[in-house]
Amino acid sequence: MRVLGIETSCDETSASVVETTGDDARPWSIRSNVVASQVPIHREWGGVVPELASRQHLRDICGVVDRALLDATTTWPDLGAIMVTQGPGLVGSLLVGLSFAKAAASASGLPLVGVHHLAGHIESIVLEHGEVPLPSVVLVVSGGHTSLYLIERPGEYQLLSRTRDDAAGEAYDKVARLLGLGYPGGPVIDRLAKLGNDRAVSLPSTRLTHADRNAPQLKGDLDFSFSGLKTAVLRYVKGRPPLSESEVADLCASFQRVVVTTLIDRAFVAARRYQARSVGVAGGVSANSRLRADLKTYGDAREMPTYVPSLKLSTDNAAMIAAAGLRKIAAGITSPLDINADAALAL
Ligand code: KG4
Ligand code: ZN
Repeated sequence: MRVLGIETSCDETSASVVETTGDDARPWSIRSNVVASQVPIHREWGGVVPELASRQHLRDICGVVDRALLDATTTWPDLGAIMVTQGPGLVGSLLVGLSFAKAAASASGLPLVGVHHLAGHIESIVLEHGEVPLPSVVLVVSGGHTSLYLIERPGEYQLLSRTRDDAAGEAYDKVARLLGLGYPGGPVIDRLAKLGNDRAVSLPSTRLTHADRNAPQLKGDLDFSFSGLKTAVLRYVKGRPPLSESEVADLCASFQRVVVTTLIDRAFVAARRYQARSVGVAGGVSANSRLRADLKTYGDAREMPTYVPSLKLSTDNAAMIAAAGLRKIAAGITSPLDINADAALAL
């Protein structure tokens, strides 16, 4: 089956054609994956401006879908379903992709499948590497989310923990902003950190011990918290004259060391606790060079297979949404045409 995926949850307009291969070990292949990034538009404002994002999605969506079909040498009659991100995300942005997908499904008679954005990030690992050994612990780490999931069966995602405050990518973006490094912060801090000493600045890492009153079903000790780290960076900068280039690099390296070691530590504690046979990391922050390198080193030392998607599949894209939608179709799940966008959709 060949399907169309559509993703517009934040600031990338993306469409992709993915098809099933018939091979259980590598179930899907990508025929096209077109991403129109809005980063240059939002950079001027230091972050994503929701109203500008939805307006730009409106301008881009038709052309991006056309391009994805063209690149895949595919026409509408070749398709078997339309998969679209239903949430979570910015509601105005989500509505553009969802409305397009509903209209296309209605006009073509194709089934519609509403997809959870984080299921997409998780399936980006399988899209890249094929099926991984289960049970697997997957860390989804992006600008909006930092969560650990346990996957015991393909397509079933059990939430183990999440951040109590800022997402890791959000912390990168906020720290970059306070250092005057521009938006998005992740790639620039990643680059500068390579030039700095990661032990130069002592910064706190938060370990939570109690369950969150808002989520008593989770044990809580695998949760993340990055707002204290961000505040510590702010305090460090405020108490000093303007930092030199090498001091900025040291601060970036020290900040990145705390973020990466926290993420990896918690993922491997979860892996041990749930006797996982693999550890995956997905989402925009999985593009981070130190996270990728340390994950491999840590996994190799413990003989634990580790997986990250390629850079192109790390950040938001529609191929991962198509893949997650194919999981749902395989389980016999499609969506009615009256589904609505849900900014806080639960997985
Ligand atoms: O998954 P994504 O594209 O969008 C969301 O769903 O949020 O993730 C974007 C986030 C941003 O916060 C960005 O700063 C971060 O991913 N990011 C990085 C890197 N590249 C992107 N963070 C750390 N290191 C990177 N190399
Ligand atoms: Zn994302």
